[in-house]
Amino acid sequence: MTAGTPAAPLTFGRGPAWANRFAVAPLTNLQSHPDGTLSDDEYAWLVRRAQGGFGMVMTCASHVSRAGQAFPGQLAAWDDRFLPGLTRLAGGIRDAGGVAALQLHHGGRRADAALSGVPVVAPWDDPAKSARALTTAEVEQVVADFTAAAVRAERAGFHGVEVHGAHGYLVCQFLNPRNDRADRYGGSFENRTRMVWEILHGIRAATGPDFQVGLRLTPERSGIPLAEARALAADVLVSGLLDYLDMSLWDAFKETHEEAHRDRLLIDHFTGLPRGGTRLGVAGKIGSAPDAAWCLDRGADFVLVGAGAVLHHDFPVRALADAGFRLVQPRPREHFVRESVGPAFLHYLATNWDDFVA
Ligand SMILES: Cc1cc2nc3c(=O)[nH]c(=O)nc-3n(C[C@H](O)[C@H](O)[C@H](O)COP(=O)(O)O)c2cc1C
Repeated sequence: MTAGTPAAPLTFGRGPAWANRFAVAPLTNLQSHPDGTLSDDEYAWLVRRAQGGFGMVMTCASHVSRAGQAFPGQLAAWDDRFLPGLTRLAGGIRDAGGVAALQLHHGGRRADAALSGVPVVAPWDDPAKSARALTTAEVEQVVADFTAAAVRAERAGFHGVEVHGAHGYLVCQFLNPRNDRADRYGGSFENRTRMVWEILHGIRAATGPDFQVGLRLTPERSGIPLAEARALAADVLVSGLLDYLDMSLWDAFKETHEEAHRDRLLIDHFTGLPRGGTRLGVAGKIGSAPDAAWCLDRGADFVLVGAGAVLHHDFPVRALADAGFRLVQPRPREHFVRESVGPAFLHYLATNWDDFVA
């Protein structure tokens, strides 16, 4: 085993090493209770993945402010009332030998007032989404909410958190060039990235020296120009604030969407950046042992597996035992039941994901 192979442990400047290069991608699974508290189904789904050998197990997007809720059955992290469930979940993942991370999220203009019970807020006034612009003081409060949720995660026993800065949710909305706020959080690149930096500094200042902090960014699909995603990635990688950067590429093997950057594959735009001691992960259609090996050969330190983790709680065990291992889909419902996918998640997969549930 050498560093960079799928089976090699991954060490970090802070916090525990991961047993291998496979992480569960954050997956919204709609399985928590309507009030945001942990359910047995959500617990079973994630703990089973830790038992299946994933070096790191990340939760679904968990909202840090009440107004951030975007999904029914979303696991909440915005108040101490959620501590008992979070503590049980972190303990279950840890006891199974996994490193446990809570993904911190705010839906922003993609939140749902009918679920949260409070108005939708966003960087800018957005009548189409019935969203109003946050005041500057409210932006500061959101930053504080991310920090408070990270502290809560640490108290609950999670080894770390990942800040969800991808996929068009609030942090990503702030990054978007469409964010033309007149205060220090909008307009220039420096201003639009300010929220990310303040969240990372806030979390670092409030959590212990071994707390593992990651950030998820996406360079395509969410209105972020590739050059800006790359510039932010370059800065955070060498900032010393992060333990890992998780690049959500949707397809780790694709060309760039923007023609001007097709001199390299999308992944190469990020694996080629200096990263100091920060680790780099990639996600997107990694559905086989050769896929994972290819990403690591290309320069990633680890892979995040979404569909593969749903199909096989022990995807890492299978991929490490068989260098030719590949996902087979669709699968019948009974298969998912055996894999500890609860009824709410299974229904969601069957109705939203093509060729997944037979
Ligand atoms: C059902 C579903 C739920 C997801 N939930 C989240 C989420 O909560 N947070 C997040 O950052 N990404 C989320 N994603 C994106 C995944 O983490 C992952 O990046 C994506 O599915 C690509 O990986 P895959 O091709 O291995 O599935 C979700 C994707 C799917 C299909």
